[in-house]
Amino acid sequence: MRTRTQVGIVGAGPAGLLLSHLLHRAGIESIVLENRSREYVEHRVRAGVLEQAPVDLLKSAGVGARLAREGLVHRGIELRFGGRGHRIDFPSLTGGRCITVYGQQEVVVDLIGARLAAGGQVLFEVADVSIDGIETSAPRIRYTSGSEGHEIVCDVIAGCDGFHGICRQALPDHQRHVFERTYPFAWLGILARAAPSHEELIYAYHERGFALFSMRSPEITRLYLQVAPDEELASWPDERIWEELHTRLETDDGWRLNEGPVLEKGITPMRSYVCEKMQHGRLFLAGDAAHIVPPTGAKGMNLAVADVHVLAQALTELLKSGRRDLADAYSQTCLKRVWRAEHFSWWMTSMLHRFPDDDGFQQRLQRSQLDYTVSSPAAATSLAENYVGLPFE
Ligand code: APR
Ligand code: PHB
Repeated sequence: MRTRTQVGIVGAGPAGLLLSHLLHRAGIESIVLENRSREYVEHRVRAGVLEQAPVDLLKSAGVGARLAREGLVHRGIELRFGGRGHRIDFPSLTGGRCITVYGQQEVVVDLIGARLAAGGQVLFEVADVSIDGIETSAPRIRYTSGSEGHEIVCDVIAGCDGFHGICRQALPDHQRHVFERTYPFAWLGILARAAPSHEELIYAYHERGFALFSMRSPEITRLYLQVAPDEELASWPDERIWEELHTRLETDDGWRLNEGPVLEKGITPMRSYVCEKMQHGRLFLAGDAAHIVPPTGAKGMNLAVADVHVLAQALTELLKSGRRDLADAYSQTCLKRVWRAEHFSWWMTSMLHRFPDDDGFQQRLQRSQLDYTVSSPAAATSLAENYVGLPFE
């Protein structure tokens, strides 16, 4: 079976789905191919913080109604160390900008709904996806569905298939310059049916390791603990997780974390990764397919949105008028924002985690940096403007 489309998109995460939606609004047709089921991608628990610019984009693109209703607007975060909290106020430090707490899978639900309502093609549970001809003007995607083989002939392919996808592998070796760091720890995350016991996110620095208090709704708390990189979930029964969270998050004034049934549990590795370039011939990478940040800066989903905002404009220009300027500048335009986010995420990670081989030197630097960040308006402003994110150009 052979079909044709303008943009073949591999991956139905936030990057692939939003790209398809933005292209549709610009009058460009696409097909999205996803190897998982709709049910799976709509329930996969991932990131949860949206910067100001992605929120504004989702709203102006007509997919922000539920986000506006159910998203939790946060005007600051807390850095907690030495037994007390220190609030960083975003609007006063950034000219009125905020973040919104809204689960990544909710963004995915909204985008799938919008694509299907507009008659868009999002094909789930496809297998054996492969791409070729990216140096020609008619690149192809092959896949199987059921037992049948299919081919889509495209003008352009967008690789939005996440870190473990196949598209990045198609860049020729000499075009694929990878920069990478792994960290000597991981995050153990839980989702609990418990009312959040604080109104904003708490980033806690503690001698036993980092902890993060977050949430998804007025009924659901999201929590993370720094653990060893090779940690087994089996060695963390719920009681041990709660005990450790209480220890790392406690304050001198008796603040208490609410507990509740654990709905989800998982371990996330911590990695920084950037693939330069993000484009070759008619293949464009976006989101986790091109770069990964450690989650401490809450930047993963935001970078995915930022990439496809740039890509949708570049492809619209390319496919409507044949102009290549934006498409040729795609990597360079995105990588500027990507490296800012890579730096911020590395900086937050380095300031807040306990490093296994530290002789006390790094701890003293961390404590000095934390004290400085919460006492100097200049340092607090730098954290705040990076956290709420730069405006889209
Ligand atoms: N064929 C088809 N689909 C694939 C393939 C493949 N070979 N490989 C992966 N996929 C799908 C995955 O199942 C997933 O649904 O591609 C999608 C990629 O989506 P995400 O991993 O969510 O990546 P992205 O859209 O770039 O969003 C980045 O995800 O991991 C978080 O922190 C990250 O918040 C960030 C966001
Ligand atoms: C989350 O709510 O999942 C979350 C929040 C902030 C982070 C990382 C994850 O830095």
